[in-house]
Amino acid sequence: MSKYAAITGWGMAVPERVLTNADLERMVDTTDEKIVALTGIHERRVVGLGESTSTLAAEAGRRALACAGLAPEAIDLVVLATCTPDRPFPATACTVQARLNIPRAAAFDIAAACSGFVYGLSVATSMIRSGAARNVLFIAADVFTHYINWNDRNTCVLFGDGAGAVVLQPSDEPYGQLSSVMGAAGKDEDLMAVDVGGTRMPATPELLEQGRQYVYMNGREIFKLAVRGMGDSSLQALAEAGLSKDDIALVVPHQANLRIIDATAKRLEMPMERVFVNLDRYGNTSAGTIPIALTEAAEQGRLKPGDYVLLTAFGGGLTWASSVIRWGHP
Ligand code: ACO
Repeated sequence: MSKYAAITGWGMAVPERVLTNADLERMVDTTDEKIVALTGIHERRVVGLGESTSTLAAEAGRRALACAGLAPEAIDLVVLATCTPDRPFPATACTVQARLNIPRAAAFDIAAACSGFVYGLSVATSMIRSGAARNVLFIAADVFTHYINWNDRNTCVLFGDGAGAVVLQPSDEPYGQLSSVMGAAGKDEDLMAVDVGGTRMPATPELLEQGRQYVYMNGREIFKLAVRGMGDSSLQALAEAGLSKDDIALVVPHQANLRIIDATAKRLEMPMERVFVNLDRYGNTSAGTIPIALTEAAEQGRLKPGDYVLLTAFGGGLTWASSVIRWGHP
């Protein structure tokens, strides 16, 4: 058994198709200025024919394996965080396992919406620490395109599709996740949801006609709760790791809205120079935002081995999660 699970590889994948604010101006009553002012988003990626959660997840996973220098045979567990699986069952993690030719490894999905990466990192790390798994491929991917009402300007400007992945391996040195804070408020589940398509409300022609298969949200209320949830859980995660905000090289927050990120940074008294932002190019890719951001931050040289990084997320459920990680491996 190992005390820690170091991040030894990382990778991301987004669809090629770019949907800009100018494109959205032609679809709904909106403007580039208004979208940027409300969200900070300039463009997002959307899936095309033949692309789905599993294709993006597999590509991100393939890149993370290459980065770690591991063969598919070395992986003994595949975990996928998603709330937009390819199909209700089987788990999309199984599809990804097959696509990557990973023989026999256990595979399952976890659903925590936008908090999925931080939730899943805790699950994958715990599996390694308990000795139940050794080399874990952990992917977070979402494709919201098919759950978006492209006539609703309140939601269609917010989301994009994408996937990010990490490889986790046992370590006796303190690398990988050092603290984990997770929470949920199921009583507020209806602030943001997709109602139709599950077992509570199976799809009928009438419900589809009403557009109940699409995402709805109380944006204003979620905004307030997100700032509070991300701020409070970040402070707890720092305390649990025995670190102060000055020890943190980079904050990698869930990328939903630049104003939420700004307000959270202010709450943490963290200068924006130490906060990673890439939502201008990808929008909110739900569980995908944090591993996509980690991959870009590493590629841009903004993450160095040994750096302490604060991850914080908030999303449907409602769920929230924060974690301090130490980047790299011995
Ligand atoms: N174009 C033009 N006007 C718009 C648009 C748009 N795309 N969207 C909203 N507006 C208008 C509204 O109609 C409103 O007009 P009014 O003042 O005449 O009524 C005005 O802009 C302000 O709208 P609000 O909804 O009050 O704006 P707000 O500041 O709350 O921003 C937003 C909206 C971006 C949705 C924000 O509330 C937000 O980011 N909330 C959090 C969303 C989020 O994080 N969801 C997360 C996760 S998803 C998951 O977990 C899977």
